[in-house]
Amino acid sequence: MTGMDRPRRLRRTPALRRLVAETSLEPRQLVLPMFVADGLDEPKEISSLPGVAQHSMDSLRKAAVEAVAAGVGGLMLFGVPRPEDKDGIGSQASELDGILNRGLRALSEEVGDSTVIMADTCLDEFTDHGHCGVLSADGSVDNDATLHRYVEMALAQAASGADLLGTSGMMDGQVGAVRRGLDAAGRTDTGILAYTAKYSSAFYGPFREAVGSSLQGDRRTYQQDAANRREALHELELDLAEGADIVMVKPAMSYLDILRDIANESTVPVAAYQISGEYAMISAAAERGWIDRRGAILESLLGIRRAGADFVLTYWATEASHWLS
Ligand code: PBG
Repeated sequence: MTGMDRPRRLRRTPALRRLVAETSLEPRQLVLPMFVADGLDEPKEISSLPGVAQHSMDSLRKAAVEAVAAGVGGLMLFGVPRPEDKDGIGSQASELDGILNRGLRALSEEVGDSTVIMADTCLDEFTDHGHCGVLSADGSVDNDATLHRYVEMALAQAASGADLLGTSGMMDGQVGAVRRGLDAAGRTDTGILAYTAKYSSAFYGPFREAVGSSLQGDRRTYQQDAANRREALHELELDLAEGADIVMVKPAMSYLDILRDIANESTVPVAAYQISGEYAMISAAAERGWIDRRGAILESLLGIRRAGADFVLTYWATEASHWLS
């Protein structure tokens, strides 16, 4: 048995394992997605996402302070308008006193200098039909008409204090259109976190409750088909050429191969979004005592990092940051 290769040698003690760990997980690599809802005095629990709330303006500020104190890398804000304020073109998304833009200003005031503030640049929360764009007469999503709306939305978000805009609508040309619009308005410092490979996924289910989505049907004509891998590299090529500052893969756990492909090819930082359904699955199994909650959460995040994400959007960002520091 002399000379036999023994990989177990380096697994013998916690100190040895720590010394040779290839991947790290740090608070700065976690970004907290947050929801701010119009007309709330108190935060409202989201039943499909236990532990995640639709925030009032006050509770948003408090939760942001707590997240930043825990060391998170950034905050990604979604807005939830009153149902009666939705319309066909998602007007409120680009109004400075719309809920999302007010929320961005609150975050910017409260924690702006100490973290990175990101905004969801998509119309779906604001349209009465729930799609990520405006509709043509035949009911299909009109790509190019939607781009104009994204630019208007982007300008309002930049003016409201967002550092990075999360272009999540999966319209063709959205990164280029938003970049040109920002530059023309002198917003050259506002960055774009491009949702580069965003797949049509059943795992978005709980999020749609979280934002009170009005969607009937699905998003298969604009989000990617789960069957496709090569196509993600095409999307990457386009987003880089159009000026993306950071590229993202979403969902994370069922798409780790895509994440690795993108990380191998990207010349800019890579993010991944551990989405609502991933959160819900682990939460539910842990609640039933079927898996160890903390172990499963940290392992899932480490796996996403190992697959190639520089940072991860996760609803556990604050809690996991407490564990890690
Ligand atoms: C759409 C959007 C979605 C999510 C964030 N923005 C998905 C969708 O409804 O298609 C999902 C996030 C999650 O599930 O956690 N703009």
